[in-house]
Amino acid sequence: MNVLVAYATRHGSTAGIAEHIAATLTERGLPAEAKPVEEVEGVDGYDAVVLGGAAYMFHWLKPAVRFARKHRDELTTKPVWLFSSGPLGTDRVDKDGKDVLESTRPKEFDELTTLIRPRGEQVFFGAYDPEDAPIGLGERLTRHLPAAREGIPAGDFRDWDAIGAWAEEIASDIERG
Ligand SMILES: Cc1cc2nc3c(=O)[nH]c(=O)nc-3n(C[C@H](O)[C@H](O)[C@H](O)COP(=O)(O)O)c2cc1C
Repeated sequence: MNVLVAYATRHGSTAGIAEHIAATLTERGLPAEAKPVEEVEGVDGYDAVVLGGAAYMFHWLKPAVRFARKHRDELTTKPVWLFSSGPLGTDRVDKDGKDVLESTRPKEFDELTTLIRPRGEQVFFGAYDPEDAPIGLGERLTRHLPAAREGIPAGDFRDWDAIGAWAEEIASDIERG
């Protein structure tokens, strides 16, 4: 058994989530490795794949989307799970009464669910450090817009218990076969 936890990140917090998932699976006796999608050439050598990426501007990071589309034929033959890291803050419900883990589901998940038929998917709270240098034009512009800045709470909101519990569910699912 060999599980790949492939991820796309801009500022690194999604890497931490992927590593926690891989460590939890490994502890459960399912050897798993977390790797950036850019370093994965193929999925043939893996029995199961967890694919994750950060959400920016309602979209899953492009390298994660490209990875899913590129390897879709192989992915449909294996157990696959998708996760996204995104919402910031501590509120589970937004000002319109919507569950933030549902309203921040990346736009690409409908297409990818049809394409690779994952066994499960999950959105996790993310992290944002305003001291990090901005990456890309969108982020640079956002830094100059006070209204946008206020809408992006700073801090590390990753829910390690929820991440670990989801990895345990994946382990149980793989063990069931
Ligand atoms: C400019 C900007 C836009 C963002 N847009 C979204 C978004 O549309 N949906 C979401 O859930 N999170 C959004 N986030 C939060 C990020 O997804 C979150 O910080 C994530 O944990 C970053 O992951 P990374 O460190 O792996 O890049 C945004 C963050 C920034 C800075």
